[in-house]
Amino acid sequence: MKSQTLHSIQSLKNNQQPIAVLTAYDSSFAKLLSENGVEIILIGDSLGMVIQGQQTTVPVTLEQMCYHTRCVAAGNNGALLVADLPYMSYATEAQAIENSAALMQAGANMVKLEGGEWLLSTIKKLSERGIPVCTHLGLTPQSVDALGGFKVQGREEQQAQQMINDAIELEKAGAKLLVLECVPQKLAKEISQKLTIPTIGIGAGKETDGQVLVLHDMLGLNDSFRPKFVKNFMHDDSVHSIADAIKNYVEQVKNKTFPGSEHSFD
Ligand code: KIV
Ligand code: NA
Repeated sequence: MKSQTLHSIQSLKNNQQPIAVLTAYDSSFAKLLSENGVEIILIGDSLGMVIQGQQTTVPVTLEQMCYHTRCVAAGNNGALLVADLPYMSYATEAQAIENSAALMQAGANMVKLEGGEWLLSTIKKLSERGIPVCTHLGLTPQSVDALGGFKVQGREEQQAQQMINDAIELEKAGAKLLVLECVPQKLAKEISQKLTIPTIGIGAGKETDGQVLVLHDMLGLNDSFRPKFVKNFMHDDSVHSIADAIKNYVEQVKNKTFPGSEHSFD
């Protein structure tokens, strides 16, 4: 695959071509994903759950994120690498700068952080220093205790309006990508239309500019964890290998057959 850049990702949105994103945490999967059409690999702090067996992403450390970012970078063949800043690693601007630098030096092309308005000046500072930033709105798992559990966000009018405003301000502050997690399809569509930068949805319906799933979820590795928005891509009759499942995912994102309404929220 040709190497993806911020510009090639932006031009996918400009040409209305959906962007295929998956998480990975090691070099073998990074190689497989990047050689089968996945344009962005997210080294997600979801590794707290799928690699470490924790209940949430809260225990994940910067050192662990750097380790997995190095592993992914070693196997990657051209995907854009986005690494999560873990819990409380961007509580102050100084921390955000120092810890983003560590992720970039480990091999990330972009860092991701969770939240809206309070992050505007942090995003501006990172962008000014040449660190591309992806933000994350809706269900932000690092705040799971404050949100009162893993549930759909933005169903009430005021909350929806706040999310739209946050998204616009984040773009103005310099964010280059926005993840929307567990958001009603209609709201995700409106945000995607209002922004110039691409939106990447998970549980946000089919109208975002791209889709992301946690790798272990879409491979059906944990049968007891099957939220509505997850599809097991190993189940298809035409799928005989993990590579087939990845190709199928990319194809279904590109032709907009995934996610279906059964994977989306009203
Ligand atoms: O950590 C992660 O895997 C994520 C995605 C679910 C967007 O943040
Ligand atoms: Na994450």
